Amino acid sequence: MKLLASLLLFIFSSLLFGGVVVAESLNQKHPFSGRNKLFVFGDSYVDIGNTKPDGTGAWAVPYGITYPGKPSGRFSDGHISTDFLAQLLRIKLPVTYAKKDDADKTRLQYGMSFAYGGTGVFDTYANYPNMTAQINLFEQLLGNVYSPSDLSSSVALVSVAGNDYITFILANLKDPAKLLGFKTFISQVVNQTELNLRKIHTLGVKKIAIPSLTPLWYIPKIANSSLIIKVIVQDLVEFHNGLLQKSVVKLNKENNHSAFTIIDYYNTFLAVFNNKGEIPGIPTFQNISIPCLGDDGKVCDDPKSAFFWDGIHPTQEGWKAVYKVLRHNITAALMPKA
Ligand SMILES: *[C@@H]1O[C@H](CO)[C@@H](O)[C@H](O)[C@H]1NC(C)=O
Ligand SMILES: *[C@@H]1O[C@H](CO)[C@@H](O)[C@H](O)[C@H]1NC(C)=O
Ligand SMILES: *[C@@H]1O[C@H](CO)[C@@H](O)[C@H](O)[C@H]1NC(C)=O
Ligand SMILES: *[C@@H]1O[C@H](CO)[C@@H](O)[C@H](O)[C@H]1NC(C)=O
Ligand SMILES: *[C@@H]1O[C@H](CO)[C@@H](O)[C@H](O)[C@H]1NC(C)=O
Ligand SMILES: *[C@@H]1O[C@H](CO)[C@@H](O)[C@H](O)[C@H]1NC(C)=O
Repeated sequence: MKLLASLLLFIFSSLLFGGVVVAESLNQKHPFSGRNKLFVFGDSYVDIGNTKPDGTGAWAVPYGITYPGKPSGRFSDGHISTDFLAQLLRIKLPVTYAKKDDADKTRLQYGMSFAYGGTGVFDTYANYPNMTAQINLFEQLLGNVYSPSDLSSSVALVSVAGNDYITFILANLKDPAKLLGFKTFISQVVNQTELNLRKIHTLGVKKIAIPSLTPLWYIPKIANSSLIIKVIVQDLVEFHNGLLQKSVVKLNKENNHSAFTIIDYYNTFLAVFNNKGEIPGIPTFQNISIPCLGDDGKVCDDPKSAFFWDGIHPTQEGWKAVYKVLRHNITAALMPKA
């Protein structure tokens, strides 16, 4: 079973690399015009600075030491998924909702991020603006800041990276029986996500990308917990991703335009974690589940050597590797057809 899995992964990785090379040479011959606005919803995996700059969390040193050299509200040492996706789609980085009134007005044309670290589709342990609330903020801007034609070449990145589940696990930690029976909760989370995705599309965003859950049992916080938690988490990730896939198929049937795309973080993260040099251009990270930033606040010698920055979030180098592997599929799915 294990052998089969690694064999498949190897074949998968080789295929991926082949794809990347082809995409690069194509793009040089036919540079694409690109989508022009990125809207971002979700949690800390995509938040580029909406949380309160109060010197804690992503606003505390040493967050941001690699880029921009001081805390920027990103939950990492530097650039995160939103930066890499925008770069890939050749869209300038959108402004944050929090800074929209201070920002140079011309920057509003690149879109906006409503994502807020700690949130879920439901209210979480942190009780931050859930995704419905974020979508409501977006809706309020339609008709004044953004017209329907402004959205004609827009794309949304929607991150549901696991805060709903962390909240659920924390709330039921002392009751393993409840933990084992939480498939119903997963189904609720995915159904709510489906409603949110449909709403974003109904509001006029043309392409909507939603990452699958990553193999969460590798994240330092979970890798360091009990075996039972790890087994449950593995199960939950697979169940969530299966349901998400079904929801996205259903949503695409409703509109006939393949408006919805899953970004396959699950397989991509695994490919990066298991890379021992067979994916050229992708670093081989040692000790995946040991973060660069220790619990004691000490930063590792070289943030580039670690996949995870803290107990939950990838480093800039980690995100960079993920987006290198994803490059071909993302441009194929999200760029307008020539
Ligand atoms: C999201 O937050 C709003 C405002 O706090 C709340 O009324 C609503 O019930 C929440 N939605 C979900 C799906 O949890
Ligand atoms: C989620 O939606 C599906 C399909 O509509 C439905 O069968 C399922 O019962 C829903 N799950 C929950 C927990 O309500
Ligand atoms: C794992 O747990 C131990 C003991 O609770 C702690 O000292 C260590 O810092 C943790 N490591 C990570 C990566 O969270
Ligand atoms: C999608 O296609 C089906 C069959 O071709 C058609 O009946 C339906 O009206 C279309 N829906 C939309 C939203 O275009
Ligand atoms: C890329 O797309 C191909 C073809 O649809 C698919 O087989 C592969 O799993 C995708 N890879 C990633 C990382 O999404
Ligand atoms: C990985 O972590 C283990 C245990 O902390 C340590 O002994 C080992 O040296 C680390 N490997 C590398 C390559 O850093």
